[in-house]
Amino acid sequence: MMHDFVITETKVVIFDLPAVMDVQALIDGGTGFYWDADRGARIGVLERGAPGSTIRWIDVDPFWVFHFLNAHDVAPDDAPNAGAGAGAGAIEVVGCRSSQLNASFDGSEVPPEVRPMLHRWRIDLGTGAVVDEQLDDRPTDFPRINEAYAGLANRYGYGGHSAGFVDGEPPFDGVTRFDLQTGATATHRYGPGQVCGESVFAADPASTAEDGGWLLNFVHDLAEDRSDVVVLDAGTLDEVARVHLPRRVPFGFHGSFLP
Ligand SMILES: [Fe+2]
Repeated sequence: MMHDFVITETKVVIFDLPAVMDVQALIDGGTGFYWDADRGARIGVLERGAPGSTIRWIDVDPFWVFHFLNAHDVAPDDAPNAGAGAGAGAIEVVGCRSSQLNASFDGSEVPPEVRPMLHRWRIDLGTGAVVDEQLDDRPTDFPRINEAYAGLANRYGYGGHSAGFVDGEPPFDGVTRFDLQTGATATHRYGPGQVCGESVFAADPASTAEDGGWLLNFVHDLAEDRSDVVVLDAGTLDEVARVHLPRRVPFGFHGSFLP
């Protein structure tokens, strides 16, 4: 099962990871998703705009990612390589990595040690070496960016701040802003009894800054069973607006903002 993939200016990057979707098991009424590390893992790199070109597979040790934040090309001059293939450049990918599939499809509890955290992979296109760097040690997922930067080097990412699973709700009680350049983070928590889903970035058309815009989220008040649309300033994480809704909006997974 592949849930997500990334692009750069020149490449499509596919992580082929050993979460298995068994369609026949689903048809038979069983659990159709499971983790099988014995199947191995690999990263595929394909040239964009080159029909008929062959994907390059790079073997890696198994891990799991539901959602990526972004990816970008690294020019050869910025990617010092040693030996054969020197100067071929690299790709950097940021995503939410867990040690294995971090969702249960049969009602069993997911062990806390397999919660996803933000990682950066540097894929050396000369040597095929992949370096995996953990960027933060708090569980996060559903990462979003200013989508004008999709496939390009970007500085800011926004992910759900995990509060642990609450009766099947998305496990977020806030949003963390990651500064990928400095490593700094800031977290906005919506308050006791407030849980949220994915933050959608809405760019400010009057701004040229990457973080010029807002984060939109459905925030569910568990006690009142009501939802608000909460708008945060994407630069400061300050709450700037709150739309009270007459009834709860159930959580989905992903969303988009249309002006
Ligand atoms: Fe998803």
